[in-house]
Amino acid sequence: MAFDIEMIKAVYDRMPARIAAARALTGKPLTLTEKILYSHLWEGTPSSTFSRGASYVDFAPDRVAMQDATAQMALLQFMQAGRPQVAVPSTVHCDHLIEAKVASSTDLQVAVDKNKEVYDFLSSVSDKYGIGFWKPGAGIIHQVVLENYAFPGGMMIGTDSHTVNAGGLGMIAIGVGGADACDVMAGLAWELKFPKLIGVKLKGKLNGWTSAKDVILKVAGILTVKGGTGCVVEYFGEGATSMSCTGKGTICNMGAEIGATTSTFGYDDSMARYLESTGRADVAALANGIREHLTADPEVYANPEAYFDQVIEIDLDTLEPHVNGPFTPDLATPISKLKELAAKNNWPTKVEVGLIGSCTNSSYEDIARAASLAKQVAAKGLKTKAQFTITPGSEQVRYTIERDGFISTFDSIGATVFSNACGPCIGQWARPGAEKGEKNTIVHSFNRNFAKRADGNPNTYAFVASPEIVTALAIAGDLTFNPLTDTLTNEKGEQVKLEAPTGDELPKLGFAVEDAGYQAPAADGSGVQVKVSPTSDRLQLLAPFAAWEGSDLKGLKLLIKAKGKCTTDHISMAGPWLKYRGHLDNISNNMLIGAVNFFNEKTDNVKNQLTGAYGPVPETQRAYKAAGIGTIVVGDTNYGEGSSREHAAMEPRHLGVRAVLVKSFARIHETNLKKQGMLALTFANEADYDKIQEDDSINIVGLNEFAPEKPLTIELEHADGSKESFAVNHTYNAQQIEWFKAGGALNIIRASIK
Ligand code: F3S
Repeated sequence: MAFDIEMIKAVYDRMPARIAAARALTGKPLTLTEKILYSHLWEGTPSSTFSRGASYVDFAPDRVAMQDATAQMALLQFMQAGRPQVAVPSTVHCDHLIEAKVASSTDLQVAVDKNKEVYDFLSSVSDKYGIGFWKPGAGIIHQVVLENYAFPGGMMIGTDSHTVNAGGLGMIAIGVGGADACDVMAGLAWELKFPKLIGVKLKGKLNGWTSAKDVILKVAGILTVKGGTGCVVEYFGEGATSMSCTGKGTICNMGAEIGATTSTFGYDDSMARYLESTGRADVAALANGIREHLTADPEVYANPEAYFDQVIEIDLDTLEPHVNGPFTPDLATPISKLKELAAKNNWPTKVEVGLIGSCTNSSYEDIARAASLAKQVAAKGLKTKAQFTITPGSEQVRYTIERDGFISTFDSIGATVFSNACGPCIGQWARPGAEKGEKNTIVHSFNRNFAKRADGNPNTYAFVASPEIVTALAIAGDLTFNPLTDTLTNEKGEQVKLEAPTGDELPKLGFAVEDAGYQAPAADGSGVQVKVSPTSDRLQLLAPFAAWEGSDLKGLKLLIKAKGKCTTDHISMAGPWLKYRGHLDNISNNMLIGAVNFFNEKTDNVKNQLTGAYGPVPETQRAYKAAGIGTIVVGDTNYGEGSSREHAAMEPRHLGVRAVLVKSFARIHETNLKKQGMLALTFANEADYDKIQEDDSINIVGLNEFAPEKPLTIELEHADGSKESFAVNHTYNAQQIEWFKAGGALNIIRASIK
């Protein structure tokens, strides 16, 4: 149905020669990560080597995936590129906007009604531009990608941080912002800093209560939430090859929780089995044909210290199940120590709800093993103490586990089956009583457990564990229960012990589904109308930004001189503003409302130089825009750190800010500003930040000679009539200067096809 075998064949055809060239250039055996990266260079066959953690490199990913919350702006921008079709295979997945409240049967329909205009837009824009559309209820992006699109040795990007899940099928899969997805769909290169490499050697084999989830929970404890930053984690060893493909997916999924660029595993028989079981025997056959190129060279895993920047070794024979949390996924506790730590930290030990599923852990194997525990409840005369919920990752998984009797097993312990969607994992959980803010404990098999993430209650202590451990703790209703050693008292007052979970890696009868929820795009989308109501407050078609007027920028007003930390959250807040992610004008009402004004130390309170009055930043900026006056935003160090959301660059551009001048930028935000046709400038001398006064009029001089590495000049005219000027730097290359002149990168792409 949905994967592109010709594309995969083309990737495999070129891999051997490119890998050989990279090996010759580097003069050493290659890791899997290097093989995939060097065979996906934008310029084709490698002609130079790259320095890990330093070189910026252009890549050509094989495909793009987008979830519904982030796809809106990505696709609104793509519509501006003027392309008739996407340049690489791409898909949209409706998973984030479905609230879990009662059960899947009712919740899905409520979401379909509530989000109709967003779904209609995403469906029609997909239809028009050749994008596969997965309807609400079809499943969670990463599970659907693993089941249908991921392939060993491939490279993909996705507009969600857990895109990394596809590493379970041997991909390099990386989470990005919508603007990056737009570029790749429009046929442009995608830039990434060449990563450092962490090798994780898995010795021994998983056994008993321990599962793949425990590997990543352990790794998170070792590396912490920042330890993987700028790195790709490559797993290998007997423990890797002996584990299921979906287990590998779980490990890669949570690589996002250690900040890793992505994680991956070499191709092996478990991947072949998974491909065959999910209807892709032809992909498995192709992969078998170039097997040696889909894993590291043998010397690498034999002597990992020589080839990785860091090596970690984990012995699966002795690895204990872990329970991580509360409030952070790297607070790793082996289950044997949980009782002691809970007492020491005063964690509430009564488990209120156990939640399994999500993109992290809803494979057939996960569900089968959890169900083997649920089955023991009746058999051993027990009663499940906590509530229990399941969010299946896809309709294919849901249908198959229903057919194989697992849903009815869970029904027998009073479980609720939510929609095949993100639901409680992303705060889309209308949990009764959460608004009371009571201190309580939940245990889930998801990936993130920051405060408020699941139910909005800051006093919910959320612990992350494998589906098996979640199920056992829910049965016991007790966080301190260790199923490996402890007994439970059954209805007859007898002491009984749960037997270790068991379950098939893949369904014996194969996967089945009646309606997977996929909508193929029109073969010729030229006549398809994209549905956006002109009166919508959630969606708005974009208009191209105006080109540079061809002269220096004179008489700009200072909008805000931001003091201290100014992240993308300060520039474009999330929370309630999420619903406007597809409406640039409406979401622009949050522009810089979190930034602290240097002159009064207040947020969202700046001086309107036209009236002298103080007011909210967006309102003040709109007044300048109405008067036809450009503005400038001044900031401190690492301006724009945080997420890659392009709204933080698009909002100022939309409202008429002409330049952002800071001590230093976070790299992705700087690039986003450039892409949108803004001037992103840095003080040549950081102390010049102090020269900017509240009532300044500002000129940016030198734009007619704008060239790489050539500073521009800022002229300040202070309120008292005095003037001063200083140099400002920039990092625009020749191409990026063209973006500025054209009014944005998309204008160039559009012009190139006329
Ligand atoms: Fe959705 Fe949670 Fe995964 S939000 S994509 S289920 S991390």
